[in-house]
Amino acid sequence: MKYIDILNSDLKVSQIALGCMRIAGKTPEQLEKLISKAMDLGINFFDHADIYGGGKSEEVFGEVLKRYPKWREKMIIQTKCGICKGYYDFSKKHIIESVNKSLERLQTDYVDVLLLHRPDALMDPKEVAEAFDELYENKKVKYFGVSNMTPYQIELIQKYTKHKLLFNQVQFNVVNAGMIDSGINANMTNPQSVDHDGGILDYCRIHDITIQPWSILQASWEKGTFLDHPDYQKLNDLLATLGEKYKVNKSTLSLAWILRHPASMQPIAGTTSPDHLEELCQAVDIELSREDWYALYLSVDRPLP
Ligand SMILES: NC(=O)c1ccc[n+]([C@@H]2O[C@H](COP(=O)([O-])OP(=O)(O)OC[C@H]3O[C@@H](n4cnc5c(N)ncnc54)[C@H](OP(=O)(O)O)[C@@H]3O)[C@@H](O)[C@H]2O)c1
Repeated sequence: MKYIDILNSDLKVSQIALGCMRIAGKTPEQLEKLISKAMDLGINFFDHADIYGGGKSEEVFGEVLKRYPKWREKMIIQTKCGICKGYYDFSKKHIIESVNKSLERLQTDYVDVLLLHRPDALMDPKEVAEAFDELYENKKVKYFGVSNMTPYQIELIQKYTKHKLLFNQVQFNVVNAGMIDSGINANMTNPQSVDHDGGILDYCRIHDITIQPWSILQASWEKGTFLDHPDYQKLNDLLATLGEKYKVNKSTLSLAWILRHPASMQPIAGTTSPDHLEELCQAVDIELSREDWYALYLSVDRPLP
């Protein structure tokens, strides 16, 4: 495993994190195997949210922590809040209540990182700042960040809080690469030139905000993974060919494509299979050539202007 030193913090995070969105249906015994494998592979970062499995994901994770309390201090646990059924809520009351409930479910006194999950149109950044201060002063949260946010949304929150926003968790993979598309197609009029995120990639790099790509293998909620999906034949053919060259499978190569970007991103792997996780972790040792990286990017029917 490789590690990233997160500037403005004392966090040294594993380059690959384990996402816990899909663990709600696991028994504590099954989850114990997954976490144990993750830690053996050098993963020290675990991503949660209050809503995953309606709270069940944090709950089963907490059950495992209760059995293995020594694991807690080796882990960096991140959770998120702000998504409610039918609306988003960044009010001070909701942020604090949500964290308290997460701590209860996770059976821990603190989370290392709290992310605001999706931008709340009605957010008052002063309230967000007050919530952050209270959680920090009560030693319930050490560090803060955001998810799915644009540069100006981040600027707005950062203006009012003294806590440096360290992470922005966004969807990013070889199929969903909007934050790359608009940069490559600057000054063009084709659909890929449309900037959907306000230049989030460059902004995060300039401001030392670590990007955490989510859904590293998913085409969409509806289609599921792009691996072996008929809509992505060209991509899959190339992943197979290059897989032979780099001696890894398609999933590992897809993750290596993300890691090849020099922004030092921290992808969140959502697998619940210890074997899949082990395969994915091989990606940290693979450096795709520039030609191969571009060939994969262009295999999803994109132009090179
Ligand atoms: N911030 C946000 O808005 C947001 C949104 C979505 C997700 N997330 C975070 O990102 C994490 C990852 O998201 P995700 O679960 O959608 O991402 P993912 O890692 O792209 O997808 C994992 C899914 O792909 C399946 N899969 C099929 N073949 C695989 C292979 N060869 N290797 C690995 N997995 C394979 C996995 O099944 P198996 O379990 O059988 O391997 C699992 O169902 C989540 O856990 C969550 O922490 C954040």
